Amino acid sequence: MTYSFKDKKVFITGAARGIGRATALAFANAGAIVGVNDINPVGIDTTIELIEAAGGKATAYMADIANKLSLQSVMYDFIRDAGGIDILINNAAVEASSDFLKTDEFEWNRTMDVNVKAAFLATQTAARAMKDTGGGAVVNVASTSGQMRGLPNRVAYVTSKTALIGLTKATAEALAGYNIRVNAVCPGIIRTEPIEQVMKGTDLLDKWQADIPQGELGKPEDVAAAILYLASDSAQYLTGQTLNVDGGKVMR
Ligand SMILES: NC(=O)c1ccc[n+]([C@@H]2O[C@H](COP(=O)([O-])OP(=O)(O)OC[C@H]3O[C@@H](n4cnc5c(N)ncnc54)[C@H](O)[C@@H]3O)[C@@H](O)[C@H]2O)c1
Repeated sequence: MTYSFKDKKVFITGAARGIGRATALAFANAGAIVGVNDINPVGIDTTIELIEAAGGKATAYMADIANKLSLQSVMYDFIRDAGGIDILINNAAVEASSDFLKTDEFEWNRTMDVNVKAAFLATQTAARAMKDTGGGAVVNVASTSGQMRGLPNRVAYVTSKTALIGLTKATAEALAGYNIRVNAVCPGIIRTEPIEQVMKGTDLLDKWQADIPQGELGKPEDVAAAILYLASDSAQYLTGQTLNVDGGKVMR
């Protein structure tokens, strides 16, 4: 299924690679005006090159979204440059891995700042503009790890993704009256760089695949397709929902 996002103004965090890049490409291919954020300038340049090579349009908005002023400043730049904002994708995240007993305050705070606080601030900044132009859509990229048994070495990450699902519901309630919908996707195990790194030299791929009813890991494009659906007018009557994109790993 393809959707038209012709001239829709879409801002995506963490678009220098992986799911964020695939989502930026998918929106641009569907005609959107895309603002791509990240802290990785080389990766963002590649994302923009790929979009332009496919005939689309995108502009870089570099910022560490854990910093409130940096985040708001690039979002205001995007809103000014594009003439508004219709869709926000809160995708950027960090995922540190450490034994719970050794997890320090820095890891906890950084994880919460990037994965939760930035989504709160970005949603608030976008919503203030969206309410004046008739509404919009926000999609948060959470994780199935926010919905199933915890992961022992990712306490901060799992907590942050569970919080992001809570933020999705709370902001969906708060913004429904402005015709702003807020939903979340929960990727399962998707073949992006962090996952390839974890699998390297292990038998994890076989183990993980055996636990997925559809028998294989997902692709960034699988998640992008779900994000586009939730952001599209086809999902007009959906808000506060989480959609698992995981080959059936979690069924509720
Ligand atoms: N890949 C998976 O299996 C999987 C599973 C569940 C959830 N997710 C979620 O999907 C999203 C994307 O995952 P991915 O696998 O593509 O990750 P990734 O690490 O490949 O990409 C994340 C991007 O976010 C950027 N980023 C990190 N901190 C930032 C900051 N402070 N400011 C701006 N940009 C920042 C990184 O530079 C990177 O380009 C994340 O929210 C992740 O938690 C992924």
